[in-house]
Amino acid sequence: MRAPGEMEMVKVLKVIKESSSISTVLFSPVHIGRWSGLVPGQFLMVWIPGTDEVPMSVSFLKREPFRMGMTVQNIGEATQALCSLKQGDWIGIRGPYGYGFNLPSNVDKDLIIGVSGGVGAASTILAMEWARSEDFRTVNLVGARDRSLLVFRDRWRSISDEVRFSTDDGSFGHKGLVGDLLNMELLAMSDHERQRTMVFTCGPEIMMVQVKRLLDQFGVEGQFSLERFMKCGIGLCDSCSASGKRVCMDGPVFSGDAISLLRDFGRSHRDRSGRPLPLKECVR
Ligand SMILES: Cc1cc2nc3c(=O)[nH]c(=O)nc-3n(C[C@H](O)[C@H](O)[C@H](O)COP(=O)(O)OP(=O)(O)OC[C@H]3O[C@@H](n4cnc5c(N)ncnc54)[C@H](O)[C@@H]3O)c2cc1C
Ligand code: FES
Repeated sequence: MRAPGEMEMVKVLKVIKESSSISTVLFSPVHIGRWSGLVPGQFLMVWIPGTDEVPMSVSFLKREPFRMGMTVQNIGEATQALCSLKQGDWIGIRGPYGYGFNLPSNVDKDLIIGVSGGVGAASTILAMEWARSEDFRTVNLVGARDRSLLVFRDRWRSISDEVRFSTDDGSFGHKGLVGDLLNMELLAMSDHERQRTMVFTCGPEIMMVQVKRLLDQFGVEGQFSLERFMKCGIGLCDSCSASGKRVCMDGPVFSGDAISLLRDFGRSHRDRSGRPLPLKECVR
């Protein structure tokens, strides 16, 4: 079996166009033992020869035959190159890295609510499929700027006891923020039900700030998948640092308690050179 630090070259099996700017790239690694224990929420470093190496969540994992996939939103050079891949092209992958989502014991919790924003769904979809396969009740609240960016609609429906969509422009589902849906969901629950609930969330940080506020208000536990600029993915370069934590090693998924201690959460990111930027200057 290869070590997580080693790169494995994989051939692209298929590219599925989810929308004009989002594609899912499927591939089949040879060293299955290395990837089969991957925990949803962990990430890969993906090398596109001649372009760059970038972090990506795993959005698809099937065991027989073994297949993996990532869902990419085209926002710059590397993601454009990934979205332009064709069947038979080669990319390099390292990982799996970081801490993923942590399923609670069914004795303490029986409901998992997934709150996904935009391409953050690429991380939560696998975690929510996992929760469903372990017999948790699942509610999925999925938001995006507009209808074209709401990915995996059929997949969400197939793994949810309840699924609700929102778009900022009202082109599909509730018009407004996905956090509004979470507010409605939590308001309708008893204290006992809230105690037996865990929330998994990934999306724009501004969205997760609203989720955190609601969870604190209603006394519900949550886990948050954070995104920071990453160069090495293995704790060496410090480019992903947030309030003294390395998101690649200590995250990307953090508990609500850990998030409460991150002063940078909802406030600042770092750019490619490590310069801190206010959150509002980041693209997502
Ligand atoms: C753990 C982790 C998992 C991720 N999973 C996914 C995924 O499943 N699907 C997906 O589409 N994207 C994912 N991303 C984000 C993805 O890695 C970036 O979008 C990508 O690196 C951008 O590279 P680029 O060359 O296309 O854009 P660049 O040309 O490098 O950047 C374009 C613009 O995006 C900004 N930017 C770049 N990276 C980030 C970042 N990490 N946070 C905020 N702003 C950024 C730049 O500052 C610039 O303004 C993930 C990131 C992390 C840290
Ligand atoms: S990406 Fe290099 S330390 Fe996290």
